[in-house]
Amino acid sequence: MPLTIKPIEGKVFGAIVTGVSLVDMDDKTFKTLYQAFLEYGFLVLPEQFLSEQQNIEFGKRFGELEFGALPLANQHRNDDGSFSTLVKLDSQRMRTNRGNEAWHTDSTYWPVSSKCAMLSALKVPNVGGQTELADMRAGYASLPTDLQEQIESLSAYHSTEFSQANDLGDFPERDKNSIYHGEAYLRPLVKVHPETGVKNLFIGRHAFGIPGLSRQRSRELLAQLLEHVVAEPTRVYQHQWREGDLLVWDNRALLHRARPYDYSEPRVLIGTRVKGDEASELAYYPNDPKAQAGREALALELDVLRAQRPHGF
Ligand SMILES: [Fe+2]
Repeated sequence: MPLTIKPIEGKVFGAIVTGVSLVDMDDKTFKTLYQAFLEYGFLVLPEQFLSEQQNIEFGKRFGELEFGALPLANQHRNDDGSFSTLVKLDSQRMRTNRGNEAWHTDSTYWPVSSKCAMLSALKVPNVGGQTELADMRAGYASLPTDLQEQIESLSAYHSTEFSQANDLGDFPERDKNSIYHGEAYLRPLVKVHPETGVKNLFIGRHAFGIPGLSRQRSRELLAQLLEHVVAEPTRVYQHQWREGDLLVWDNRALLHRARPYDYSEPRVLIGTRVKGDEASELAYYPNDPKAQAGREALALELDVLRAQRPHGF
């Protein structure tokens, strides 16, 4: 069967790719696939059934990895690669997983945010557990011109300590080597895609504290922009997983989130994340004097959220 790239019906983004095996794909075919990835924002590749090593190899074709073949699962991985016992629902790991049920883009809470991410489905629950994607390019393009102008020069801090506290009332222990590291990275609300030149919104659950705006105005604006992106059904796609599926999306232009499911049922997705290019995805490093403002904004924000924490939480 020849390589077929079929745009997803009724959506402004996304394509389903068939007639290709990701394992033995030549460079010419990958180039075609990569162009489709840039154009459509995400690709669904059914029936690939990649091993951990094959996930890593495929990920590396997109660039340097942040991590490769990491189980994003509610089960512990055994040494032989199988999965069995369920991870406790109140563990930090599951609370972090649950946090990803809110719209976000990956790794904006690191100095260099992510280029793209991929998931391979190993075990799929009977109900729920979908992955949803939303197009921030179409979201930006459809904003009223005055709002586009208003946000053109604005930025927001990004931190997963913020999002975890804001979405779950969760204040994980700080550890500078973990994702709860105490830094917050300033990124523009309007991003110019480094490869296509197309503008898109750059927001999501990790974003807070727009410098120059009050806390309330900042929250309202970020919520308004997010709501705008996801309010239009043609800008949102829900992927119903089947074992063997591979999904790859552009973190620089799309939002995504996981959907809830029955957490007593196994769900194992193998995640691989590609690092962004420093030329376009670097905010600053923690040793940069610019980092201090982010640290302070985060500390203030966490104080407010802590004070609002329901009594006895
Ligand atoms: Fe994610």
